[in-house]
Amino acid sequence: MRFEVKTGAATKLKTSCLIVPVFSSGPLPATTRSVDVACEGLVTDLVDGGDIRGKIGDTLIARAGAGMDANRIMLVGCGEKSKFNRKQYRKALRAAYSALAKTRHRDATSTLHLEAVKGADVARRAAIAAEVWQNASYRFTATKSDSNEKSEDIKSLCLLAGSAKSTDVRKGLKRGQAIGAGMRLSRELGNLPANICTPSHLVATARKIARGNDKLKVEILGETEMKKLSMGALLSVTAGTVEPAKLIVMRYSGGAKKKPPVALVGKGVTFDSGGISLKPGAAMDEMKFDMCGAATVLGCMEAIANLNLSLNVVGVVPACENLPSGIATKPGDVVTSMAGKTIEILNTDAEGRLILCDALTYVQKYKPRAIIDIATLTGACLVALGKHRSGLLSNSDKLAKALQKSGDNADDPAWRLPLGDEYRQMLKSNFADLANIGGRNAGTITAACFLSEFVKDVDWAHLDIAGTAWLGGASKGSTGRPIPLLLEYLASIA
Ligand code: BES
Ligand code: MN
Ligand code: ZN
Repeated sequence: MRFEVKTGAATKLKTSCLIVPVFSSGPLPATTRSVDVACEGLVTDLVDGGDIRGKIGDTLIARAGAGMDANRIMLVGCGEKSKFNRKQYRKALRAAYSALAKTRHRDATSTLHLEAVKGADVARRAAIAAEVWQNASYRFTATKSDSNEKSEDIKSLCLLAGSAKSTDVRKGLKRGQAIGAGMRLSRELGNLPANICTPSHLVATARKIARGNDKLKVEILGETEMKKLSMGALLSVTAGTVEPAKLIVMRYSGGAKKKPPVALVGKGVTFDSGGISLKPGAAMDEMKFDMCGAATVLGCMEAIANLNLSLNVVGVVPACENLPSGIATKPGDVVTSMAGKTIEILNTDAEGRLILCDALTYVQKYKPRAIIDIATLTGACLVALGKHRSGLLSNSDKLAKALQKSGDNADDPAWRLPLGDEYRQMLKSNFADLANIGGRNAGTITAACFLSEFVKDVDWAHLDIAGTAWLGGASKGSTGRPIPLLLEYLASIA
């Protein structure tokens, strides 16, 4: 889908369908009023005649009047004017998209962002429009054979600048478009089955993202290099599979040469069977989503590059499968991590922390100003926070606050959980420096405590996205979270 900004009067716009807001009560919004006049009172007639109530999600398409250059107008219900916040605005945008997608119109122009929205200036409103429509138009077709499903619903969407500064609208649109595209990439990787989305596929994707952008460099470490680096924890997870493990390192240089980078580390378990501590069969297919942390990092790197952020970022993705076999790691096995700490693997299903601890050790060679890891790490996080908020754990109050705020601003919220010695005690082992599990209680916290052992002298935050990275049931699929949170944070420090 193409996005662009147009200037000029709403009535003089050549477009298949002009999208205008109506509220459930009160006078028509200014743009809608100008359209109403050009259509000789059509909008007033439709509203007063009861054809549209103006509730959030209501839509109505009508033939534009002679005074209009558009072919059609779409009225979009925006609810009560006094309650029009970002959430309602997003709903209205989604409704407009799905109404349009049901028609044969292939392009449209929206004016919804010209209305005031609580908590969003016009640049933010333009960004939200692009982000919502990028996501609304995403469909998974890679492994469907019906070629009808592969055609795009809508080719181009315009935002009218109206009386707003068109540079604000443009800037916002560009931001939202980049975030939306990053989310689409992340969602596609998440949704692809594990027999396609292997560690090598993640490598190919990283290379593709970097192609043609000289600020992006990719380096791949194979198992031979991992052995040389003594990444015994990472290697123990991949021991049971024939699929080769990879460590992907992407470097984006958009800032001054000497400026330390922000490090993003994403869990890339392309399938998590649990290993010898095999998971139960129900919903095991969803463990193809266990690489959503990795997908987040790749989507972020693409968006960062698209936005040309003036910042250095290093993205690291440890990628492998977790499968049982005759040569798989067994419960009770003790391995030595790259940092030198020995780990007793009491449960081979607690594998995310094992690949992440070596990746966290490795990334510190870049002397990062902060490390953020993103991982579908614990089922316990889903129990604690549901599908609404990502878990946030950090050794730095400042970083935690900044990420929490970024999540709130981006409508991609997180919630902080504590760390602490009393939890760290739960990881004691009789046979190694650390056990990889901490017992039944506080599973999200003990998992993060395990990681914290590998990031002693650097600001670090961990996002547990086990609940937020994908949806199950009828809407089963990857969500693209927490890319909005991370891009909001990175843009705020760039
Ligand atoms: N990838 C899973 C976490 C997960 C489970 C995410 C279900 C979303 C839904 C992770 O590797 C895992 O298996 N964690 C275990 C840890 C336990 C063995 C301490 C878990 O959460 O059960
Ligand atoms: Mn697991
Ligand atoms: Zn896992």
